[in-house]
Amino acid sequence: MTRCRVCDQAVQEFFDFERQPLSSAFPLPGEADGEFFFRLAVGICSSCTLVQLIEDVPQEHAHHQGYPYHSAGSSVMHKHFTQTAYDLLETELTGPDPFVVEIGANDGVLLRTCGDAGVRHLAVEPSGAGGVRVHRAFFDAASAADIRAENGPADVVYAANTICGVADLAAVFAGLDVLLGPDGVLVFEDPYLGEIVERTAFDQIYDEHVFFFTARSVRSMAERFGFELVGVERLPVHGGQIRYTIAHAGRRVPSPAVAELVREETGRGLADLATLEDFAAKVRGIRTDLVALLGDLRAAGNTIAGYGATAKSSTVANYCGLGPDLVPFVCDTTPGKQGRVTPGSHIPVRPAAAFADPYPDYALLFAWNHAEEIMAKERAFRAAGGRWILYVPTVHIV
Ligand code: TYD
Ligand code: ZN
Repeated sequence: MTRCRVCDQAVQEFFDFERQPLSSAFPLPGEADGEFFFRLAVGICSSCTLVQLIEDVPQEHAHHQGYPYHSAGSSVMHKHFTQTAYDLLETELTGPDPFVVEIGANDGVLLRTCGDAGVRHLAVEPSGAGGVRVHRAFFDAASAADIRAENGPADVVYAANTICGVADLAAVFAGLDVLLGPDGVLVFEDPYLGEIVERTAFDQIYDEHVFFFTARSVRSMAERFGFELVGVERLPVHGGQIRYTIAHAGRRVPSPAVAELVREETGRGLADLATLEDFAAKVRGIRTDLVALLGDLRAAGNTIAGYGATAKSSTVANYCGLGPDLVPFVCDTTPGKQGRVTPGSHIPVRPAAAFADPYPDYALLFAWNHAEEIMAKERAFRAAGGRWILYVPTVHIV
């Protein structure tokens, strides 16, 4: 039996993607033999309702030297992190000499913006990436103590797309206990189970997303570790996220939005196995429809290209059995992915320019979380008669 990583109670499995590779391990074309696979399955804790992966990827196989960061190559995300910095500067970083810490660095946009405003800042990131002032470590009680000794307490610890990938949440909260000042807060944003279920966005499930939070499960997690969920905010990025604000227990009055969102989640049955089994049935339907559509299009002589070699696409390609026969290549702006093949599914990754050289008849939009931005940028594709294939919330062509 699998036990909840937070409260140690039984986790009930509701979907099994079976054998999956590491979503960020893009092999070179000739070196795809020794790939690591694990069983990707998800379940819900019968007690605290936290949805989580059934199996951990053993540390020795973890692909990243640090916190996973996907360079989204997106101007929308750049704006998002800049705006988030401005918001924090106005709300939380208002004291005489504030200090903000980011777990993982993303591309350093948030901390750089805070730094430009004269605010002391530090990234905690083992790989040293991010291009900002960085403490090279994972975030836990030990690194938090080092940081506090050198910088004093933090007003804000921020994390985007990071907390959901840290299997040992107790270590994170132990670090917060040490580093946050009495009125300091953890502000973190991650994919929202409510959106995943709403959109049947099953591709948010991959090795680096261990947890799929709700306000209810986050509230319960915070309480378990001596903290309190005091704020929730919906974010439009990455297909729908929630930003959670967590304070030391009893230090702040929780916003009414917290209880409202928990009520809404209860009404939607987000903690009910039946809802998740319904989600599972829809996922199976998407696989059937997508494989049939791509097969039909190819049989009719159409050309197809993938757009965006996202981590999410690893789950789609491997679960649906898509390979170069159905999707001959995928274009992506990330130099480190180009010239390689996608994990497990071995679809060659080509530079962004390959998309128009010549345009395919159909583009399978793996980076659907950036749909608006990409479709605006690729208007000429549509004008030339090209069509987008999307698979969330259902398989459809636009
Ligand atoms: P991301 O949004 O981080 O998703 P995931 O976490 O699933 O990897 O990644 C987006 C990917 O899409 C990234 O590899 C860059 C690529 N991309 C493009 O190729 N063109 C674009 O215009 C955008 C916005 C992204
Ligand atoms: Zn639990």
